[in-house]
Amino acid sequence: MPDMQISISDVSLHNERVVTIRGWLTDKSGKGKLQFLKLRDGSGFIQATVFKPDVSEEDFELAKRLPQESSLEVTATVRADARAPGGFELNVQSLKLIALPTEEYPITPKEHGTEFLLDQRHLHLRHRKPWAMLRVRDTVQRAITDFFHSRGFLRFDAPFFMPTAVEGTTNLFEINLFDEEKAYLSQSGQLYAEAGAFAFGKVYTFGPTFRAEKSKTRRHLLEFWMIEPEVAFNDWQDNMTLQEDFVSSIVGRALEECASELELLERDVTKLAGAASGNFPRISYDEAIQLIDAAISSGNLPANVDADTQPVVWGDDFGAPHETIVGAHFDRPVMIHSYPAAIKAFYMQPQAHDPRLAACNDMIAPEGYGEIIGGSERIHDYELLKSRILEHDLPLEAFDWYLDLRKFGSVPHAGFGLGLERTVAWICGVPHLREVIPFPRMLTRMKP
Ligand code: 4AD
Ligand code: MG
Repeated sequence: MPDMQISISDVSLHNERVVTIRGWLTDKSGKGKLQFLKLRDGSGFIQATVFKPDVSEEDFELAKRLPQESSLEVTATVRADARAPGGFELNVQSLKLIALPTEEYPITPKEHGTEFLLDQRHLHLRHRKPWAMLRVRDTVQRAITDFFHSRGFLRFDAPFFMPTAVEGTTNLFEINLFDEEKAYLSQSGQLYAEAGAFAFGKVYTFGPTFRAEKSKTRRHLLEFWMIEPEVAFNDWQDNMTLQEDFVSSIVGRALEECASELELLERDVTKLAGAASGNFPRISYDEAIQLIDAAISSGNLPANVDADTQPVVWGDDFGAPHETIVGAHFDRPVMIHSYPAAIKAFYMQPQAHDPRLAACNDMIAPEGYGEIIGGSERIHDYELLKSRILEHDLPLEAFDWYLDLRKFGSVPHAGFGLGLERTVAWICGVPHLREVIPFPRMLTRMKP
């Protein structure tokens, strides 16, 4: 029988069989008659033991001289071994070299600095931690599309070239089109999703988003991925229920399907149990201010918040430390609703009981991960929307099509945007968003 070609992720199905695995050498140790080859093939990691009496003289010599990141094919017997990470090992019968590195691999098993590893991102992706994080990202992306598909949403792709701003003008990337005409890179697909909601009822966009963020923070990328559902006839409270169902389902899927990745990342998964079970608290902006005041005046602040953090004055937006204080108060994400309209986007519906407030909410993740969602009910009245566009000094002619949506059977509708990298960073328990996207784009980094 020819040897069976398998992936490392499938070894448990082949205990005691002879299999062939193609991959790369990540590390090696050995002495005397034994060589231990640490292998990876993209699907997982495994140790292959080369015992001199079991292999040809040539293969043993090859095993001894192979450098890190050689590509090779091994034929070996799969052996269950409770001491091995993953529970299995390979006992090698023969080896075949595919390619020797042409120079020394730069990322050695010792510790390296973050900037160095980001410079080597194209290679660092091969290593355990980035590998685990990007697999969690993949699972989260699938969980997102499955969630919306199961609820009858249509995936609706918004354009990336935009004639105008959506979320305010300060962080727009301007581009020169032909004949001096200007356009902007999209900060959000929302306005287009609203057109989609009136055509298909329930839609979501899922794509890259661009924001010229000039500050260097661990929570901001220049290019990030956003998921923006939009639902006709939903109000701001339905919108929060959808967010809660959505986020708890994503976290649940990650816990179910990524247990080994989260273990490799040393994530304390008990901290995600609340998020996976739903029932997210909903508090108003005013209640959040009280909670922040109480924490500051009692000095009872989370470890990662500065002792001289100032209280929020009504009408001001929350800063990162304020979000951390509110987030730390709960064991799962919290939704803060009814912010002052003046600090929110032009399209937000005013609250019926107090038009100074917007019918909106943010979702704040626990453990200092901050805002993962921003959303609201949208203004559906033509005259009110038009006056808001003018008050915000936005060019009316660029919004004619958006206003059109309010002319023909306009209905209340609501939606939100979830930042993919903020969500994945929180689930993985890594502090910086740059870790959870294959090639991060930041103020200080465009390469590789
Ligand atoms: O709160 P934001 O600005 O909301 C919108 O763009 C709305 N149009 C969404 C909607 O109602 N359809 O952004 C939404 C989310 C934030 O909560 C955050 O998770 C993420 O996008 N985000 C960023 N993620 C990484 N880097 C940045 N620079 C980000 N800016 C926002
Ligand atoms: Mg926001």
